[in-house]
Amino acid sequence: MAYLDSTRHDYEGTLTSLDMQVGIMRKGPSTRASGFTESVIREMTRLCQAHGAVNLAQGFPDFDPPLSIKRAAATAISKGYNQYSTTYGTMGLRKAIARKVKSYNHIDCNMDEITVTCGTTEGMIASELALLDRGDEVVIFEPFYENYGPDAILSGAKCRYVRLREPDFRIEEETLKQAFNRKTKAVIINTPHNPTGRVLTSQELGLVRDLCQDYDSYAITDEIYEHIMYDGHKHVSIGSLPGMEDRTITISGFSKTYSVTGWRVGYVVAPKPLTSAIRKVHDFLTVCAPTPLQEACTAALQLPESYYEQLRENYRKGRGMLVESLENAGFGVFKPEGAYYVWTTTDRTGFKDDRKLALHLITKVGVGGVPGSSFFHNPSHGRLRFRFSFSKKPETIRRAIKRLEKFSPNHLSGRSDHRMPRRLAMTAGS
Ligand SMILES: Cc1ncc(COP(=O)(O)O)c(C=O)c1O
Repeated sequence: MAYLDSTRHDYEGTLTSLDMQVGIMRKGPSTRASGFTESVIREMTRLCQAHGAVNLAQGFPDFDPPLSIKRAAATAISKGYNQYSTTYGTMGLRKAIARKVKSYNHIDCNMDEITVTCGTTEGMIASELALLDRGDEVVIFEPFYENYGPDAILSGAKCRYVRLREPDFRIEEETLKQAFNRKTKAVIINTPHNPTGRVLTSQELGLVRDLCQDYDSYAITDEIYEHIMYDGHKHVSIGSLPGMEDRTITISGFSKTYSVTGWRVGYVVAPKPLTSAIRKVHDFLTVCAPTPLQEACTAALQLPESYYEQLRENYRKGRGMLVESLENAGFGVFKPEGAYYVWTTTDRTGFKDDRKLALHLITKVGVGGVPGSSFFHNPSHGRLRFRFSFSKKPETIRRAIKRLEKFSPNHLSGRSDHRMPRRLAMTAGS
């Protein structure tokens, strides 16, 4: 995502009588909407489609969800679940989510503290609109999932960015402390993390908790990859930490865990007073999430533990294949601990500009990825970074690997042995 000058106005003059006679429209889009650009990730998908490239840019699976939940969706439609549901979600789904949140996330909640939304995406913007006022500050870790910047702009808050430093992307106490002040209303957490693949530890989340308590701030946590971890890493929800019960908004969804990114079902767990505010915003944004798909998501929450184990195992294999191929192609690789992205450095590819690299990869090599600059508020920080996703069938990853083999020889600057580029960070046990 790129930010534009949010103070720019398309029209600042007054209409002349001639303008009025010919009906000229000079009042343009809002300053708010002019503050950011379209999603670069989604733009890369469109380019991949136009050029027939293997899309390792946007994080969505190219395989189907489990048959049982597809059937549950079809059955719900044929049985008449086709009208608006209760705005904040069907009772059945909220009950099932409450059970899951208690057992998996160790957060004590009931169905009155849950709002079902149109994806995590809507959950995040609804939460920020419900919590933040103009003048409030929001702490965002960088690199970040590109929606967080526009979400803060849309809700009128000011962003304070905190770098997760390479190669291990840990939260550093001193750096984080400097970002908090009395105006800090919220900090956005994302674990497992997109794009770096970090899985935050209890100790790091404890640092965030301490600062939230010191400055009377909230944690808004996006845990959409909560079931996708490798090498023994465990997911910890900041909302389960003592002292965070009343100051955490936990957001998750069905898109990634059940491979249904097009269904658009997510949810927000928050203490009652916040839930009331979030439900109001959600109602006026979208009314409700798709009713038949809420039925199918209720069925998804009944899948056995073996489903999640298999999901992780499949992604672990995809990670191995893509990491090796990217290393061979000259990328420096940060091996992910969770989620399904590989964050890379491109210094050795010969490309100095991530967008040019993206275009080259799509149009000449036939593989799509995401330019690193779209994960930073200052694009120059990401010029030599690039993200690939392995949320694809093995055969799709193999097709991308075959194509990437064409990339390496021409773009390794001054090296004859292109199989040598080194991994930059190893995760424990991997
Ligand atoms: C960190 C993160 N949050 C949210 C989303 C979008 O989630 P949903 O499909 O539930 O709106 C994505 C999608 O890539 C993501 O990476």
